[in-house]
Amino acid sequence: MREPQSLRAQLLSRLTLPLLIVVILDASVSYFVALHYADQAYDSWLLDSAKSLTQEVKAHKDKVTFELPPIAVEVFRWDAMDKTFFKVESEAAGFIAGDKGLPSPVLATMASDEPFFSDGEILGQKVRIVSVLTAPTTDDSDDVLISVAETLNKRRGMMNEILLAVVLPQLLLVLITGFHIWTGINRGLSPLNDLAKLIAQRSARDLNPISDAGVPLEVRSLTHTINALLDRLGANLKTQQRFIENAAHQLRTPLAGLKVQAERALMADNLESMRPALAHIKNSADRVAHLSTQLLVLARSESVSQTAHELKSLDLITLSRACCMDWVPKALERNIELGLDAPTTPVGIAGDETLLRELLSNLLDNAIAYGNPDGHISVQIEPGLEPRLIVEDDGSGIQANEADRIFERFYRIPGSRGEGCGLGLAIVKEIADLHSARIEVGSGPRGRGTRIEISFGVG
Ligand SMILES: Nc1ncnc2c1ncn2[C@@H]1O[C@H](COP(=O)(O)OP(=O)(O)O)[C@@H](O)[C@H]1O
Ligand SMILES: [Mg+2]
Repeated sequence: MREPQSLRAQLLSRLTLPLLIVVILDASVSYFVALHYADQAYDSWLLDSAKSLTQEVKAHKDKVTFELPPIAVEVFRWDAMDKTFFKVESEAAGFIAGDKGLPSPVLATMASDEPFFSDGEILGQKVRIVSVLTAPTTDDSDDVLISVAETLNKRRGMMNEILLAVVLPQLLLVLITGFHIWTGINRGLSPLNDLAKLIAQRSARDLNPISDAGVPLEVRSLTHTINALLDRLGANLKTQQRFIENAAHQLRTPLAGLKVQAERALMADNLESMRPALAHIKNSADRVAHLSTQLLVLARSESVSQTAHELKSLDLITLSRACCMDWVPKALERNIELGLDAPTTPVGIAGDETLLRELLSNLLDNAIAYGNPDGHISVQIEPGLEPRLIVEDDGSGIQANEADRIFERFYRIPGSRGEGCGLGLAIVKEIADLHSARIEVGSGPRGRGTRIEISFGVG
């Protein structure tokens, strides 16, 4: 089973994660742009000082000199945060002045009139170096290379300041937005909690609809569904209650009869005078037994229909033949002929075998009970897209105005013969519904008797 997911956590992560990504992207871009411009500014200051040194390069009869008084060197080197280095050299003369340890750029990679920036190291410290070429004489005999370098303290300080200035406000933004999203979600979800509390507090008997007041629009579909369910539950409960009352009432009658007859039997002093009472007792016991079986069948088909039972594919002919065989002796008791009229190839439908046999048994029971003595009952199976099971008798028939009521539980047409309890056709209907089958009630051949037709869907 999948772990239940928290709506709150989902909303929070879906809203803040993109925000966080955007903020990180934005912070990085602003950081690198700011860094680039700061670097450019420092680089151009470094170039200025290199250019100022080129003024001090002089040429005397082809000999290049670099004259800077010590005090000027001190002024040149002065910087509160960084150390400044310089080096003057030429290809012909080699090192001329400054810091010998400062790395020189590879001359070949330099354009003669462009300053060249590079990163290097001197005395174990990382430095930024700019190198410029200058020609002290008019005949371009020997170019002098002047490099100026400074340590990176100012640049690093600047980097940290920019980082703080960019990242801190963004972080604060994420925190404030996250907090607002969190409280917003909580506030948004609170109607759901209220609703859950309201439902939890209900008694099991309270099936009144949940009020829509205060329920947000988005949650209303849920309350509507719950209310529809409560409605169905209520209707279901009422039917069950009525059914139990009816069943109890129906059982009471034969049981009361049993008691009276038993008392009468007890008063008789010999077996012979006891016989009629015993016969009544057997009759009442039969009725109770029949009634309880019918109640069980009804309960079973109801529970099957409520639990999305799986229907299996089966042959309607085999099933009907077996069932008819069971009823032949009962039919013969009334001298009724029972015939099966079916095609030779199987007729497949999707169904529950036990329940379908129960359905046909109840139809045959009625046909035998209410059919014409010495008459004929025919069970027919018609193949096709909607296979049909038909039971026809030539009895008294059912009046059109009774056609709907006979399917009600415990309903019997007044004056009906036999020991029925009015559950037979209710069971037939329940089982037909379970198979999504249609029932039609009509009259038999030549307008006489009863014809009950059950049409199934495709098997
Ligand atoms: N084949 C039939 N012919 C005439 N009447 C019938 C037939 N089947 C059912 N009925 C009528 O429908 C009523 C309801 O049938 P059912 O639910 O089986 O109850 P029960 O048979 O216990 O009376 C019966 O009382 C009977 O009057
Ligand atoms: Mg019946």
